[in-house]
Amino acid sequence: MKLFLDTADVSQIREACSWGVISGVTTNPTLVSKQKNMDFKELVKEICEIVDGPVSAEVVSLDVDGMVKEAMEFSKIDPRVVIKIPMTKEGMSATKRLSSEGIRVNVTLVFSAAQAILAAEAGATYISLFMGRLDDVGEDSIAVLENIVAMKENYGFESQILAASIRHPYHVVQAALVGADVATVPFAVLEKLFNHPLTDVGIKRFLEDWNRYRNRG
Ligand code: E4P
Repeated sequence: MKLFLDTADVSQIREACSWGVISGVTTNPTLVSKQKNMDFKELVKEICEIVDGPVSAEVVSLDVDGMVKEAMEFSKIDPRVVIKIPMTKEGMSATKRLSSEGIRVNVTLVFSAAQAILAAEAGATYISLFMGRLDDVGEDSIAVLENIVAMKENYGFESQILAASIRHPYHVVQAALVGADVATVPFAVLEKLFNHPLTDVGIKRFLEDWNRYRNRG
């Protein structure tokens, strides 16, 4: 399973990419709105210069022509750009048109296996299941993800299943266990993935032992 970073914060992206574990970035209008001083297209361009992988940029139009027009403009920014389109009837029409022209689409705001089938049929490159938001309303996000992965295997859909709205490290592990292709994680969750108290204790003990050895009489 690949890890993407779920942020529009350039300094977070730069730092996380330096750790060698990030294969792409996902943004959304909420994440972009936090970068108050930056023009959207300039921001996407800068992110693409840092990341060696797909960078999702979301349209805000709700009609098919508007979505396609925005998608065409975003595609000119950089070949790494993937167009994020919401799971609506209009969104699927736009996804079909864009995917038929070879433009990669990340279908977002997917909350059920039924919606995932539609996104796959429309030619989505990525299907983003929002795990945390499902759990928030008392649904079992892992069960839904598992169904989507099974459906993909049954029918050989080419769409990649992307676990989104990740809230904690165990979401990432669960997504990997059921066979998601990608998990997109906020910076804070990515940092938590590194942590284990026994790693810290182990490093401390190795260094103490090494210093004792070096200072032996
Ligand atoms: C996905 O690509 C979305 O940007 C994101 O994962 C949404 O997460 P949230 O529910 O924490 O806003």
